[in-house]
Amino acid sequence: MGKILVTGGTGYIGSHTVVELIKNGYDPVIVDNLCNSKIEVLNRLETICGVRPKFYQISVQDKEAMRQVFEENEIDAIIHFAGLKSVGESVLYPEKYYSNNVGSSKVLLELMDEYRVHNIVFSSSATVYGVPERMPIVESDPIGNCSSPYGDTKYQIELLLMDYAKTHEDANVAILRYFNPIGAHPSGLIGEYPTGIPNNLMPYITQVAVGTLECLTVFGGDYDTRDGSCIRDYIHVCDLAEGHVYALHKLETKPGLVIYNLGTGRGTTVLELVHAFEEANNMKINYKVGARRDGDVPENYANCDKAYKEMGWKATRTIKDACRDSWNWQSKNPHGYDK
Ligand code: NAD
Ligand code: WQD
Repeated sequence: MGKILVTGGTGYIGSHTVVELIKNGYDPVIVDNLCNSKIEVLNRLETICGVRPKFYQISVQDKEAMRQVFEENEIDAIIHFAGLKSVGESVLYPEKYYSNNVGSSKVLLELMDEYRVHNIVFSSSATVYGVPERMPIVESDPIGNCSSPYGDTKYQIELLLMDYAKTHEDANVAILRYFNPIGAHPSGLIGEYPTGIPNNLMPYITQVAVGTLECLTVFGGDYDTRDGSCIRDYIHVCDLAEGHVYALHKLETKPGLVIYNLGTGRGTTVLELVHAFEEANNMKINYKVGARRDGDVPENYANCDKAYKEMGWKATRTIKDACRDSWNWQSKNPHGYDK
């Protein structure tokens, strides 16, 4: 496999994966409509990698434009990151989420058929497990019953991919269920910069640290956990990016359908993450403990043994590494990719 179509490749996880792909000798072709990322990412990727990846600014939903990409490039595999990911927005505009997320996945599968591309890696999410019955979560645990339309789109796309694999003998499909990605490339040239006030914890912390936001509210201090705050499985985005290279290697063995959790296997509380950030960067974060946030589960962390057993992949970076790298990115780019 050489040429990899990376949809959503200028986004947070996509851009880090493009770095790993180039490092491992692959030739990524990025498709992104820039609805949640910036063109400047390409300059940064060129600085890090020494080559500028091929780029098409189009929506994956636009089948005719996508057909052109398949005509012009002999694609060996697809990594499908493109999608909208705001849980709150999806509650307000579910139809936008269904048409963008599920719609673009359908277009890709149709074009895979037409152009005889057999391999696809899909960005799924821990959110497909809904309210999990036990910890840590294993891949065979029940999915569905998601707590947002965003989660429902990930679940629907998984079902679509499972049916596709069933009905296409030559298809190789890797569904990767990410837990909570944080951190940034150690160069500080690429990272996460959400538009507006961040919903996610790490960008909120870094924006308090850089002075854009005043104070972090820890959502809930009365959960039945070791310090009362929620537990999540925070994974360094570079570990996650490497997971995609391992998934491509796995697809080369023609496994049919495979599903893996990508996390660290370890739970960290909100307060532990805040304190790790303070220690790693030798600074204080202004925070207060507030009310619980609707829809949060007390704990959510992965069992990642399957990814290790079957692909040889495991996360190697620590929470402290991620805190240091997140701050390195944020402090060097206080306004993200904008000047
Ligand atoms: P991101 O928003 O930074 O990247 C997604 C990219 O897709 C953006 O660059 C956006 O412009 C692009 N995009 C969206 N719709 C498109 C379309 N129709 N056509 C072309 N491009 C389109 O998000 P991310 O954090 O890098 O997430 C990547 C994928 O991983 C998403 O599918 C997301 O749902 C999934 N995921 C993310 C997380 C997380 O916490 N970041 C966790 C689990 C799963
Ligand atoms: C983490 C913890 C909050 C902000 C979300 C999506 C999930 C997946 C990953 C895409 C929670 C607490 C947060 C703040 C806080 N995305 N928190 N103060 O909710 O685990 O998962 O992102 O697939 O689908 O739901 O991540 O970063 O929002 O929250 O205390 O200002 O931090 O309560 O315990 P979450 P998060």
